[in-house]
Amino acid sequence: MRIERARGTRDFLPREMRKRRIMEARMREIAERWGYEEISTPTFELAELFTLKSGDAILKEMYEFEDKGGRHLALRPELTAPVIRMYVNELKMASKPTKVYYIGNCFRYEEPQKARYREFWQFGAEIIGSDSPEAQAEIIALAHAILQSVGITAEVHVGHVGLLRERLRAAKVEEERINTVMRLIDKGEREELIHFMNEIGVEHHVVDELLRLIDVQGEDALQAAQADNLIASASPAFKELEMLLELLTYYNVAYTLNLGIARGLDYYTGMVFEIYEVDGSLGAQNQICGGGSYRLAALFGGDDVPSTGFAFGFDRLAEIFRLDEHAMPRGDVVVVPVRERDQDNREVVKEAIQVASTLREFVRTQVDVMNRSLSAQLSYANAIRASFAVLVGKNELKEGKVTVRDLTTGMQERMSLEDCVGRIRATLR
Ligand code: HAM
Repeated sequence: MRIERARGTRDFLPREMRKRRIMEARMREIAERWGYEEISTPTFELAELFTLKSGDAILKEMYEFEDKGGRHLALRPELTAPVIRMYVNELKMASKPTKVYYIGNCFRYEEPQKARYREFWQFGAEIIGSDSPEAQAEIIALAHAILQSVGITAEVHVGHVGLLRERLRAAKVEEERINTVMRLIDKGEREELIHFMNEIGVEHHVVDELLRLIDVQGEDALQAAQADNLIASASPAFKELEMLLELLTYYNVAYTLNLGIARGLDYYTGMVFEIYEVDGSLGAQNQICGGGSYRLAALFGGDDVPSTGFAFGFDRLAEIFRLDEHAMPRGDVVVVPVRERDQDNREVVKEAIQVASTLREFVRTQVDVMNRSLSAQLSYANAIRASFAVLVGKNELKEGKVTVRDLTTGMQERMSLEDCVGRIRATLR
Protein backbone atom coordinates (compact mmCIF):
# COMPACT_ATOMS: atom_id res chain seq x y z
CA MET A 1 0.00 0.00 0.00
CA ARG A 2 1.30 3.42 -0.96
CA ILE A 3 0.68 6.12 1.62
CA GLU A 4 0.32 9.66 0.27
CA ARG A 5 1.13 12.92 2.00
CA ALA A 6 -1.73 14.65 3.79
CA ARG A 7 -3.46 17.20 1.54
CA GLY A 8 -1.92 20.67 1.61
CA THR A 9 1.44 19.47 3.01
CA ARG A 10 4.78 19.15 1.21
CA ASP A 11 8.04 17.21 1.34
CA PHE A 12 11.20 19.21 0.88
CA LEU A 13 13.94 17.42 -1.02
CA PRO A 14 17.62 18.20 -0.25
CA ARG A 15 17.98 20.82 -2.97
CA GLU A 16 14.87 22.72 -1.83
CA MET A 17 15.90 22.39 1.80
CA ARG A 18 19.34 23.78 1.03
CA LYS A 19 17.76 26.76 -0.70
CA ARG A 20 15.38 27.36 2.22
CA ARG A 21 18.24 27.24 4.72
CA ILE A 22 20.26 29.76 2.70
CA MET A 23 17.26 32.11 2.60
CA GLU A 24 16.57 31.61 6.26
CA ALA A 25 20.19 32.38 7.17
CA ARG A 26 20.12 35.66 5.26
CA MET A 27 16.81 36.68 6.81
CA ARG A 28 17.97 35.80 10.32
CA GLU A 29 21.15 37.77 9.83
CA ILE A 30 19.23 40.95 9.01
CA ALA A 31 16.85 40.53 11.96
CA GLU A 32 19.82 39.98 14.29
CA ARG A 33 21.61 43.04 12.95
CA TRP A 34 18.56 45.15 13.67
CA GLY A 35 18.70 43.96 17.29
CA TYR A 36 15.96 41.30 17.25
CA GLU A 37 16.44 38.01 19.12
CA GLU A 38 15.13 34.66 18.07
CA ILE A 39 12.42 32.89 20.03
CA SER A 40 10.41 29.73 19.54
CA THR A 41 7.00 28.72 20.84
CA PRO A 42 5.11 25.39 20.82
CA THR A 43 3.49 24.00 17.68
CA PHE A 44 0.20 23.55 19.52
CA GLU A 45 -1.47 25.79 22.10
CA LEU A 46 -4.67 25.90 24.11
CA ALA A 47 -7.28 26.67 21.44
CA GLU A 48 -8.62 29.67 23.35
CA LEU A 49 -5.38 31.54 22.66
CA PHE A 50 -6.64 31.90 19.12
CA THR A 51 -10.39 31.97 19.71
CA LEU A 52 -10.13 35.05 21.95
CA LYS A 53 -9.23 37.59 19.29
CA SER A 54 -7.96 36.27 15.99
CA GLY A 55 -11.32 36.48 14.30
CA ASP A 56 -13.72 34.23 12.42
CA ALA A 57 -11.65 33.67 9.32
CA ILE A 58 -8.81 32.07 11.28
CA LEU A 59 -11.19 30.07 13.47
CA LYS A 60 -12.90 28.43 10.53
CA GLU A 61 -9.51 27.25 9.30
CA MET A 62 -8.09 26.07 12.60
CA TYR A 63 -6.89 22.52 13.21
CA GLU A 64 -8.47 21.81 16.59
CA PHE A 65 -8.41 18.66 18.65
CA GLU A 66 -8.87 17.25 22.10
CA ASP A 67 -5.89 15.51 23.69
CA LYS A 68 -6.11 12.39 25.83
CA GLY A 69 -6.53 14.59 28.91
CA GLY A 70 -9.57 16.31 27.42
CA ARG A 71 -7.80 19.62 26.73
CA HIS A 72 -9.01 21.66 23.79
CA LEU A 73 -5.91 22.34 21.69
CA ALA A 74 -5.10 23.87 18.32
CA LEU A 75 -2.19 23.70 15.90
CA ARG A 76 -1.01 27.30 15.66
CA PRO A 77 -2.49 29.12 12.64
CA GLU A 78 -0.07 32.02 13.16
CA LEU A 79 2.58 33.12 15.63
CA THR A 80 1.65 36.55 16.95
CA ALA A 81 -0.79 35.33 19.62
CA PRO A 82 1.71 32.65 20.84
CA VAL A 83 4.53 35.22 20.99
CA ILE A 84 2.42 37.61 23.07
CA ARG A 85 1.31 34.75 25.33
CA MET A 86 4.97 33.88 25.84
CA TYR A 87 5.78 37.51 26.54
CA VAL A 88 3.04 37.72 29.20
CA ASN A 89 4.13 34.40 30.78
CA GLU A 90 7.89 34.78 30.63
CA LEU A 91 9.14 38.17 29.51
CA LYS A 92 6.98 40.77 31.20
CA MET A 93 9.90 41.99 33.28
CA ALA A 94 12.35 42.23 30.36
CA SER A 95 13.41 45.73 29.38
CA LYS A 96 11.28 47.29 26.72
CA PRO A 97 10.96 47.28 23.84
CA THR A 98 11.24 43.51 23.54
CA LYS A 99 12.27 42.79 19.97
CA VAL A 100 11.94 39.22 18.79
CA TYR A 101 11.87 37.24 15.56
CA TYR A 102 10.83 33.70 14.73
CA ILE A 103 10.47 31.14 12.02
CA GLY A 104 7.99 28.34 12.45
CA ASN A 105 5.36 26.21 10.80
CA CYS A 106 1.69 27.22 10.91
CA PHE A 107 -1.43 25.29 10.03
CA ARG A 108 -4.60 26.46 8.35
CA TYR A 109 -7.33 24.28 6.90
CA GLU A 110 -7.53 26.22 3.64
CA GLU A 111 -8.32 25.03 0.13
CA PRO A 112 -4.83 24.17 -1.14
CA GLN A 113 -3.64 25.83 -4.36
CA LYS A 114 -0.46 27.34 -5.72
CA ALA A 115 1.39 29.03 -2.82
CA ARG A 116 -1.43 28.23 -0.39
CA TYR A 117 -0.84 25.27 1.87
CA ARG A 118 -2.28 23.69 4.98
CA GLU A 119 1.14 23.58 6.58
CA PHE A 120 3.29 26.61 5.78
CA TRP A 121 6.11 28.56 7.40
CA GLN A 122 6.17 32.12 8.65
CA PHE A 123 9.21 34.27 9.32
CA GLY A 124 8.14 37.15 11.52
CA ALA A 125 9.27 39.85 13.92
CA GLU A 126 7.53 41.75 16.71
CA ILE A 127 8.36 44.88 18.69
CA ILE A 128 6.58 44.41 22.00
CA GLY A 129 6.18 47.67 23.94
CA SER A 130 5.53 50.18 21.18
CA ASP A 131 3.19 51.08 18.36
CA SER A 132 4.65 54.54 17.83
CA PRO A 133 5.19 55.74 14.25
CA GLU A 134 8.91 55.08 14.88
CA ALA A 135 8.17 51.44 15.75
CA GLN A 136 5.81 51.10 12.79
CA ALA A 137 8.36 52.56 10.39
CA GLU A 138 11.11 50.33 11.79
CA ILE A 139 8.99 47.21 11.34
CA ILE A 140 8.16 48.05 7.73
CA ALA A 141 11.78 49.03 7.00
CA LEU A 142 12.99 45.77 8.56
CA ALA A 143 10.62 43.75 6.37
CA HIS A 144 11.91 45.72 3.40
CA ALA A 145 15.57 45.06 4.33
CA ILE A 146 14.86 41.35 4.73
CA LEU A 147 13.34 41.24 1.27
CA GLN A 148 16.37 42.98 -0.15
CA SER A 149 18.64 40.40 1.49
CA VAL A 150 16.95 37.65 -0.54
CA GLY A 151 16.84 39.77 -3.69
CA ILE A 152 13.06 40.10 -3.93
CA THR A 153 11.42 43.30 -5.11
CA ALA A 154 7.85 43.83 -4.08
CA GLU A 155 5.23 46.47 -3.37
CA VAL A 156 4.58 47.73 0.15
CA HIS A 157 0.99 48.85 0.81
CA VAL A 158 0.32 50.75 4.01
CA GLY A 159 -3.08 51.34 5.59
CA HIS A 160 -4.52 52.18 8.98
CA VAL A 161 -7.40 50.25 10.49
CA GLY A 162 -7.50 52.81 13.32
CA LEU A 163 -8.85 55.38 10.86
CA LEU A 164 -11.59 53.04 9.64
CA ARG A 165 -12.48 51.82 13.13
CA GLU A 166 -12.50 55.43 14.43
CA ARG A 167 -15.05 56.39 11.77
CA LEU A 168 -17.31 53.43 12.57
CA ARG A 169 -17.06 53.94 16.33
CA ALA A 170 -18.04 57.59 15.88
CA ALA A 171 -21.14 56.29 14.08
CA LYS A 172 -21.84 54.07 17.15
CA VAL A 173 -21.31 50.77 15.35
CA GLU A 174 -20.66 47.94 17.85
CA GLU A 175 -17.18 46.41 18.05
CA GLU A 176 -18.32 42.94 16.89
CA ARG A 177 -19.95 44.47 13.84
CA ILE A 178 -16.89 46.59 13.14
CA ASN A 179 -14.92 43.34 13.00
CA THR A 180 -17.34 41.99 10.41
CA VAL A 181 -17.04 45.21 8.39
CA MET A 182 -13.24 44.94 8.50
CA ARG A 183 -13.37 41.34 7.30
CA LEU A 184 -15.58 42.28 4.36
CA ILE A 185 -13.20 45.11 3.47
CA ASP A 186 -10.27 42.70 3.72
CA LYS A 187 -11.93 40.29 1.33
CA GLY A 188 -12.75 43.11 -1.08
CA GLU A 189 -16.45 42.17 -1.03
CA ARG A 190 -17.86 45.62 -1.67
CA GLU A 191 -21.45 44.69 -2.46
CA GLU A 192 -21.71 42.53 0.62
CA LEU A 193 -20.10 45.30 2.68
CA ILE A 194 -22.70 47.84 1.57
CA HIS A 195 -25.48 45.32 2.14
CA PHE A 196 -24.23 44.50 5.65
CA MET A 197 -23.86 48.16 6.69
CA ASN A 198 -27.32 48.96 5.38
CA GLU A 199 -28.74 45.96 7.20
CA ILE A 200 -27.28 47.00 10.59
CA GLY A 201 -28.59 50.51 10.07
CA VAL A 202 -25.39 52.48 9.40
CA GLU A 203 -26.43 55.87 8.03
CA HIS A 204 -25.99 56.37 4.30
CA HIS A 205 -23.53 59.20 4.56
CA VAL A 206 -21.33 57.09 6.87
CA VAL A 207 -21.45 54.17 4.41
CA ASP A 208 -20.51 56.56 1.65
CA GLU A 209 -17.64 58.05 3.64
CA LEU A 210 -16.29 54.64 4.55
CA LEU A 211 -16.36 53.54 0.92
CA ARG A 212 -14.49 56.67 -0.07
CA LEU A 213 -11.97 56.10 2.73
CA ILE A 214 -11.14 52.56 1.63
CA ASP A 215 -10.62 53.88 -1.89
CA VAL A 216 -7.93 56.28 -0.67
CA GLN A 217 -4.82 55.07 -2.47
CA GLY A 218 -1.55 56.40 -3.80
CA GLU A 219 0.82 59.29 -3.25
CA ASP A 220 -0.61 62.46 -1.68
CA ALA A 221 -3.89 60.59 -1.14
CA LEU A 222 -3.75 61.24 2.58
CA GLN A 223 -3.65 65.00 2.20
CA ALA A 224 -6.35 64.83 -0.48
CA ALA A 225 -8.60 62.77 1.82
CA GLN A 226 -8.05 65.24 4.59
CA ALA A 227 -8.75 68.21 2.33
CA ASP A 228 -11.91 66.40 1.32
CA ASN A 229 -12.92 66.26 5.01
CA LEU A 230 -12.84 62.47 4.93
CA ILE A 231 -10.32 62.52 7.78
CA ALA A 232 -10.20 65.11 10.54
CA SER A 233 -6.71 66.55 10.86
CA ALA A 234 -7.05 66.36 14.65
CA SER A 235 -7.56 62.60 14.41
CA PRO A 236 -4.73 60.84 16.31
CA ALA A 237 -4.74 58.11 13.65
CA PHE A 238 -4.22 60.68 10.92
CA LYS A 239 -1.29 62.31 12.75
CA GLU A 240 0.29 58.93 13.38
CA LEU A 241 -0.06 57.88 9.77
CA GLU A 242 1.36 61.16 8.52
CA MET A 243 4.46 60.77 10.68
CA LEU A 244 4.85 57.12 9.66
CA LEU A 245 4.78 57.95 5.96
CA GLU A 246 7.36 60.66 6.48
CA LEU A 247 9.67 58.21 8.26
CA LEU A 248 9.22 55.59 5.55
CA THR A 249 10.41 58.08 2.99
CA TYR A 250 13.37 58.80 5.24
CA TYR A 251 14.11 55.03 5.43
CA ASN A 252 13.98 55.01 1.64
CA VAL A 253 11.12 52.52 1.54
CA ALA A 254 8.82 53.06 -1.42
CA TYR A 255 5.19 52.51 -0.39
CA THR A 256 1.64 52.91 -1.62
CA LEU A 257 -0.89 54.31 0.80
CA ASN A 258 -3.92 52.04 0.69
CA LEU A 259 -6.64 52.59 3.30
CA GLY A 260 -8.53 49.62 1.88
CA ILE A 261 -6.20 47.24 3.72
CA ALA A 262 -8.15 45.79 6.64
CA ARG A 263 -6.27 42.47 7.30
CA GLY A 264 -7.93 39.15 8.01
CA LEU A 265 -7.14 39.13 11.75
CA ASP A 266 -9.16 41.04 14.35
CA TYR A 267 -6.41 42.17 16.66
CA TYR A 268 -5.00 45.10 14.67
CA THR A 269 -5.62 48.52 16.16
CA GLY A 270 -3.61 50.97 14.05
CA MET A 271 -1.22 50.84 11.13
CA VAL A 272 -1.52 47.77 8.90
CA PHE A 273 0.58 46.80 5.91
CA GLU A 274 0.85 44.15 3.28
CA ILE A 275 3.58 43.38 0.78
CA TYR A 276 2.76 41.96 -2.63
CA GLU A 277 4.93 40.17 -5.11
CA VAL A 278 4.64 41.96 -8.44
CA ASP A 279 5.90 39.81 -11.30
CA GLY A 280 2.94 37.44 -11.22
CA SER A 281 4.72 34.17 -10.40
CA LEU A 282 2.59 33.52 -7.31
CA GLY A 283 -0.74 33.97 -9.05
CA ALA A 284 -3.59 34.92 -6.77
CA GLN A 285 -1.57 34.27 -3.59
CA ASN A 286 0.74 37.22 -4.12
CA GLN A 287 0.65 38.54 -0.56
CA ILE A 288 4.07 37.69 0.80
CA CYS A 289 3.93 39.62 4.07
CA GLY A 290 1.35 41.08 6.43
CA GLY A 291 1.56 43.00 9.66
CA GLY A 292 0.63 46.00 11.74
CA SER A 293 0.10 47.42 15.23
CA TYR A 294 -2.03 45.57 17.72
CA ARG A 295 -2.83 45.04 21.39
CA LEU A 296 -3.08 41.48 22.65
CA ALA A 297 -1.10 41.37 25.90
CA ALA A 298 -3.95 42.58 28.15
CA LEU A 299 -6.23 39.96 26.67
CA PHE A 300 -3.79 37.25 27.79
CA GLY A 301 -3.51 38.57 31.35
CA GLY A 302 -0.67 41.08 30.95
CA ASP A 303 -0.44 44.87 30.91
CA ASP A 304 -1.96 46.62 27.95
CA VAL A 305 1.31 46.91 26.01
CA PRO A 306 1.11 48.01 22.40
CA SER A 307 3.02 45.98 19.81
CA THR A 308 3.90 46.09 16.14
CA GLY A 309 5.01 43.24 13.92
CA PHE A 310 4.85 41.33 10.67
CA ALA A 311 5.11 37.85 9.25
CA PHE A 312 6.39 36.74 5.86
CA GLY A 313 4.92 33.73 4.13
CA PHE A 314 8.26 31.95 3.95
CA ASP A 315 7.10 29.41 1.34
CA ARG A 316 5.92 32.16 -0.95
CA LEU A 317 9.31 33.83 -0.71
CA ALA A 318 10.99 30.47 -1.38
CA GLU A 319 8.94 30.12 -4.52
CA ILE A 320 10.20 33.38 -5.97
CA PHE A 321 13.71 33.31 -4.52
CA ARG A 322 16.31 32.66 -7.20
CA LEU A 323 19.39 31.04 -5.80
CA ASP A 324 22.69 32.12 -7.16
CA GLU A 325 24.33 28.72 -7.86
CA HIS A 326 27.70 30.01 -6.66
CA ALA A 327 26.21 30.35 -3.21
CA MET A 328 25.47 26.62 -3.13
CA PRO A 329 28.04 24.60 -1.22
CA ARG A 330 29.38 21.78 -3.42
CA GLY A 331 29.11 18.11 -2.53
CA ASP A 332 32.77 17.66 -2.92
CA VAL A 333 34.81 14.79 -1.53
CA VAL A 334 34.19 11.08 -1.10
CA VAL A 335 36.74 9.12 0.91
CA VAL A 336 36.96 5.55 -0.40
CA PRO A 337 38.22 2.77 1.86
CA VAL A 338 39.57 0.15 -0.56
CA ARG A 339 38.63 -3.09 1.16
CA GLU A 340 40.07 -6.43 0.17
CA ARG A 341 37.85 -9.45 -0.03
CA ASP A 342 38.10 -11.93 2.88
CA GLN A 343 40.63 -9.74 4.67
CA ASP A 344 40.48 -7.84 7.91
CA ASN A 345 39.89 -4.30 6.62
CA ARG A 346 39.50 -2.58 9.96
CA GLU A 347 42.70 -0.52 9.71
CA VAL A 348 41.73 0.71 6.23
CA VAL A 349 38.26 1.72 7.44
CA LYS A 350 39.69 3.51 10.47
CA GLU A 351 42.22 5.39 8.34
CA ALA A 352 39.43 6.42 5.91
CA ILE A 353 37.40 7.78 8.84
CA GLN A 354 40.47 9.68 10.04
CA VAL A 355 41.10 11.17 6.59
CA ALA A 356 37.43 12.16 6.29
CA SER A 357 37.57 13.91 9.68
CA THR A 358 40.57 15.97 8.55
CA LEU A 359 38.88 16.95 5.28
CA ARG A 360 35.60 17.81 7.02
CA GLU A 361 37.33 20.66 8.73
CA PHE A 362 37.02 22.61 5.49
CA VAL A 363 34.99 20.67 2.92
CA ARG A 364 31.88 18.53 2.69
CA THR A 365 33.12 14.96 2.89
CA GLN A 366 31.48 11.56 2.86
CA VAL A 367 32.88 8.16 3.66
CA ASP A 368 31.43 4.80 2.58
CA VAL A 369 29.12 3.14 5.11
CA MET A 370 27.82 0.34 2.87
CA ASN A 371 30.86 -1.91 2.63
CA ARG A 372 30.92 -1.40 -1.13
CA SER A 373 33.57 -2.25 -3.70
CA LEU A 374 35.95 0.35 -5.08
CA SER A 375 34.05 0.65 -8.36
CA ALA A 376 30.66 0.94 -6.62
CA GLN A 377 32.06 3.71 -4.40
CA LEU A 378 33.47 5.56 -7.40
CA SER A 379 30.20 5.41 -9.30
CA TYR A 380 28.42 6.79 -6.22
CA ALA A 381 30.97 9.63 -6.08
CA ASN A 382 30.27 10.40 -9.74
CA ALA A 383 26.51 10.18 -9.23
CA ILE A 384 26.57 12.81 -6.50
CA ARG A 385 28.91 14.92 -8.67
CA ALA A 386 31.72 14.93 -6.14
CA SER A 387 34.91 16.68 -7.24
CA PHE A 388 37.40 14.31 -5.63
CA ALA A 389 37.64 10.72 -4.44
CA VAL A 390 40.33 10.07 -1.86
CA LEU A 391 41.32 6.41 -1.86
CA VAL A 392 42.69 4.70 1.22
CA GLY A 393 43.88 1.07 0.79
CA LYS A 394 46.54 -1.25 2.22
CA ASN A 395 49.33 0.26 0.06
CA GLU A 396 48.42 3.82 1.01
CA LEU A 397 48.37 2.75 4.63
CA LYS A 398 51.85 1.26 4.31
CA GLU A 399 53.25 4.40 2.69
CA GLY A 400 51.40 6.80 4.97
CA LYS A 401 49.75 8.41 1.91
CA VAL A 402 46.39 8.68 0.15
CA THR A 403 45.46 8.47 -3.55
CA VAL A 404 43.66 11.57 -4.77
CA ARG A 405 41.47 11.11 -7.84
CA ASP A 406 40.21 14.23 -9.58
CA LEU A 407 36.77 13.14 -10.77
CA THR A 408 36.54 15.86 -13.40
CA THR A 409 39.75 14.87 -15.22
CA GLY A 410 40.06 11.24 -14.12
CA MET A 411 43.73 11.83 -13.16
CA GLN A 412 44.97 10.35 -9.93
CA GLU A 413 48.08 10.71 -7.82
CA ARG A 414 49.40 9.34 -4.56
CA MET A 415 50.44 11.98 -2.03
CA SER A 416 50.64 12.80 1.68
CA LEU A 417 47.45 13.80 3.46
CA GLU A 418 48.90 17.27 3.88
CA ASP A 419 49.40 17.65 0.11
CA CYS A 420 45.92 16.20 -0.47
CA VAL A 421 44.43 18.89 1.79
CA GLY A 422 46.43 21.55 -0.09
CA ARG A 423 45.33 20.24 -3.50
CA ILE A 424 41.62 20.07 -2.60
CA ARG A 425 41.69 23.45 -0.90
CA ALA A 426 43.33 25.09 -3.91
CA THR A 427 40.87 23.53 -6.36
CA LEU A 428 37.70 24.28 -4.44
CA ARG A 429 38.55 27.86 -3.59
P1 HAM B 1 -1.25 36.72 7.85
O1 HAM B 1 -1.39 37.77 6.80
O2 HAM B 1 -2.42 35.91 8.18
O3 HAM B 1 -0.71 37.47 9.13
O4 HAM B 1 -0.06 35.75 7.44
C1 HAM B 1 1.22 36.26 7.11
C2 HAM B 1 1.69 35.69 5.78
O5 HAM B 1 1.67 34.26 5.81
C3 HAM B 1 0.79 36.04 4.60
O6 HAM B 1 1.12 37.32 4.09
C4 HAM B 1 1.12 34.95 3.61
O7 HAM B 1 2.27 35.29 2.84
C5 HAM B 1 1.47 33.76 4.50
N1 HAM B 1 0.37 32.77 4.49
C6 HAM B 1 -0.82 32.85 5.13
N2 HAM B 1 -1.57 31.74 4.88
C7 HAM B 1 -0.81 30.94 4.09
C8 HAM B 1 -1.01 29.64 3.48
N3 HAM B 1 -2.13 28.95 3.67
N4 HAM B 1 -0.02 29.14 2.71
C9 HAM B 1 1.14 29.83 2.50
N5 HAM B 1 1.39 31.04 3.06
C10 HAM B 1 0.43 31.59 3.83
C11 HAM B 1 -0.36 36.86 10.30
O8 HAM B 1 -0.34 35.66 10.44
C12 HAM B 1 0.05 37.81 11.40
N6 HAM B 1 0.41 37.00 12.59
C13 HAM B 1 1.18 38.72 10.98
C14 HAM B 1 1.62 39.65 12.07
C15 HAM B 1 2.71 39.54 12.86
N7 HAM B 1 0.97 40.72 12.49
C16 HAM B 1 1.62 41.29 13.48
N8 HAM B 1 2.67 40.56 13.72
